[in-house]
Amino acid sequence: MRIALRVALFGFLMAAPCLLLPVPSAEAMHACIDCHKGLKEERLSRPVKKIADDYHMIRGLKCQDCHGGDHTAFDNKEASHSRAKGFLGKPKRQDIPAFCGKCHSDPRYMRKFNPKIRTDQVKEYYTSVHGQKLREGDKHVAVCISCHDVHAIRAIKDQAAWTYPIQVAETCSRCHADAKYMKDYKIPTDQLKNYEKSIHYEVLTKKGDISAPTCPSCHGNHGATPPGVDSVANVCSNCHAAVAELFAKSVHEEAFSDLGQPACVTCHGNHEVLKPSDELLAGGKDTPCATCHEENSSELKKANEIRTLLQDLAKGIDRAEAILTRAEHAGMEVGPPRFELIEAKDALIKARAETHLVKVKRIKTLTTPAVVIAEKTVKKGQELMVQLQFRRKGLAASLLVIAAALIGLFFKIREVDRRGPSG
Ligand code: HEC
Ligand code: HEC
Ligand code: HEC
Ligand code: HEC
Ligand code: HEC
Ligand code: HEC
Ligand code: HEC
Ligand code: HEC
Ligand code: HEC
Repeated sequence: MRIALRVALFGFLMAAPCLLLPVPSAEAMHACIDCHKGLKEERLSRPVKKIADDYHMIRGLKCQDCHGGDHTAFDNKEASHSRAKGFLGKPKRQDIPAFCGKCHSDPRYMRKFNPKIRTDQVKEYYTSVHGQKLREGDKHVAVCISCHDVHAIRAIKDQAAWTYPIQVAETCSRCHADAKYMKDYKIPTDQLKNYEKSIHYEVLTKKGDISAPTCPSCHGNHGATPPGVDSVANVCSNCHAAVAELFAKSVHEEAFSDLGQPACVTCHGNHEVLKPSDELLAGGKDTPCATCHEENSSELKKANEIRTLLQDLAKGIDRAEAILTRAEHAGMEVGPPRFELIEAKDALIKARAETHLVKVKRIKTLTTPAVVIAEKTVKKGQELMVQLQFRRKGLAASLLVIAAALIGLFFKIREVDRRGPSG
């Protein structure tokens, strides 16, 4: 017993100094990190400072997986940077796609980490204007690290990633909104400014709805266009399929393609897509219609007919809505008429989409029954207000009766009191 205790105590005393020694950290066990973190030149130590946020690190990769070299050759730059050990150094800008593609274009390698990840980024990239110009030796175009950062490459799902939908417009615009940087090119630098005025930007940033498009949704991220689109001008149809189908059935379809006018963008714009209003149908000098239709032409007369039909329905719905709201605030039950009004509202939404057919008759078949519903709802609302007045009058009458009874009771009590307790 005693001997066992002594042995334990001895063992503890021998081991104690070891507990005070620093445990070698993961960094210290890695030659590249160990040396680079202490280097004075900012460009040489920055990679180590940034790397904690890099998804490659999170997935267990390290410096040598990208750069090559020997990460076990401590304090020995030459051995660590050994070309024989595959050291690549800093890639030239033109070589960056291949540098990343060493892994990202290798399905066998990538699927060990993620069986679903795509491995076509480099191939796609060379179909884009960026990729084509890089091949011609242009160093201003975007390469992988312009959009993904370097040494802090985050997962696509990470909200702080440069490519995350809410962030990516700023990423593209670091070049595209910089007039000085883009001065050698013949393209405008107003895309961000215009995009920020659009309904798409509003839905994306204010409602946080990431199904609304931002730069790469329309332009593609790696390839020239997103999948399923042959030209950026046709990209709207990817998301607005129902409207696109209506447009395709209209007389405009042929007219636009004959004149080489892009379908949606001619009327709605590309970056500054605003919430459309019925006024677009008025066909005035400032509308896109003026390119093809003269004022007072039969087409624009028809368009104005469509506009009137839509506005009449909209006004009817507004009136119905207003009276129901008044009745509701006064405590009346407005559930059933509200429910019926939904049908009229749906018809208006449908009719607005069907303006793309530019057929007065089609709009009429939708709006005529809906106007009837709206009018009925207004009547129902008026009836509710009459009932309300009736109830108010009834209430006033019963209050009078109660007041009279109370006064009577008061005089009765006084009379009893005056007679005294013996009564
Ligand atoms: C003992 C110190 C030391 C070690 C270990 C070391 N480096 Fe370096 N590294 C340097 C210095 C110093 C430079 C500056 C350029 C030079 O002197 O070659 C540098 C430069 C670089 C560069 C930039 C090359 C260029 O062309 O500008 C890269 C990339 C790099 N190191 C990666 C690594 C990687 C990856 C490892 C581990 C496999 C590593 N280094 C290990 C000291 C080190
Ligand atoms: C995912 C791949 C990847 C990983 C991992 C990676 N690097 Fe790099 N590194 C690059 C690329 C790409 C460049 C070229 C950046 C550029 O052109 O601006 C680069 C550039 C560098 C440079 C030169 C910086 C300059 O501005 O001159 C150094 C030094 C460097 N890396 C060191 C490291 C060290 C140390 C690690 C590990 C902590 C590391 N890298 C991990 C891809 C990587
Ligand atoms: C013009 C900007 C841009 C360039 C250049 C770019 N990417 Fe991307 N990358 C993106 C965007 C945006 C996404 C998608 C984000 C999303 O899906 O929400 C993405 C997604 C990815 C993904 C995730 C898988 C996938 O394909 O969706 C990988 C991996 C990737 N990029 C690697 C690369 C590589 C490698 C290069 C260079 C050949 C490169 N990227 C060039 C913007 C870019
Ligand atoms: C040594 C191999 C290797 C190299 C080189 C490499 N990557 Fe990766 N990359 C990976 C692996 C592995 C993953 C993790 C995939 C996963 O788990 O989904 C990854 C993930 C990514 C992701 C996140 C993908 C996602 O779905 O969230 C992006 C973006 C990315 N890499 C971009 C780059 C860029 C840009 C370069 C070049 C600067 C590069 N990679 C170089 C192996 C590499
Ligand atoms: C590193 C700077 C840089 C970044 C970041 C960048 N671009 Fe570019 N982009 C350029 C340059 C330079 C051109 C070449 C312009 C030309 O030749 O007309 C270009 C060309 C384009 C073109 C073709 C324009 C045309 O009609 O010629 C489109 C579209 C484009 N970029 C979209 C994007 C999108 C979308 C993003 C973000 C996901 C992005 N770019 C990020 C620099 C950049
Ligand atoms: C809703 C779709 C959509 C969005 C979002 C979008 N674009 Fe465009 N963009 C287009 C269309 C369509 C064109 C015209 C293409 C054509 O005429 O062939 C275009 C043209 C361009 C051009 C060529 C020059 C020009 O202005 O005509 C560049 C560069 C460009 N966009 C960059 C961007 C950038 C950067 C963003 C994000 C701030 C962005 N785009 C957002 C659809 C979009
Ligand atoms: C990535 C999908 C996507 C693409 C591409 C896209 N949109 Fe949209 N668009 C949306 C979403 C989401 C909304 C907002 C929700 C809604 O009202 O439908 C929206 C809203 C709109 C609205 C306003 C609708 C309303 O009722 O107020 C118009 C007009 C519009 N887009 C036109 C276009 C045009 C024109 C293009 C092509 C230049 C385009 N969209 C490209 C997804 C997209
Ligand atoms: C001839 C001009 C014109 C063309 C071409 C056109 N639109 Fe419209 N669009 C309009 C008008 C006008 C309205 C507004 C109707 C209203 O509110 O009175 C509208 C409304 C919309 C709306 C909102 C209504 C709804 O249904 O949500 C969307 C979305 C839309 N357009 C998308 C598109 C798309 C996508 C294309 C291409 C396939 C396209 N438009 C082509 C004129 C046009
Ligand atoms: C690119 C030229 C072009 C633009 C822009 C254009 N239209 Fe048209 N539109 C035509 C042509 C051509 C026809 C005649 C087709 C036929 O009758 O064969 C037409 C026909 C019409 C018709 C008559 C359909 C019918 O049933 O007879 C209406 C209504 C109309 N356009 C409204 C508009 C409105 C409103 C705008 C603007 C929001 C507009 N158009 C913009 C070319 C255009």
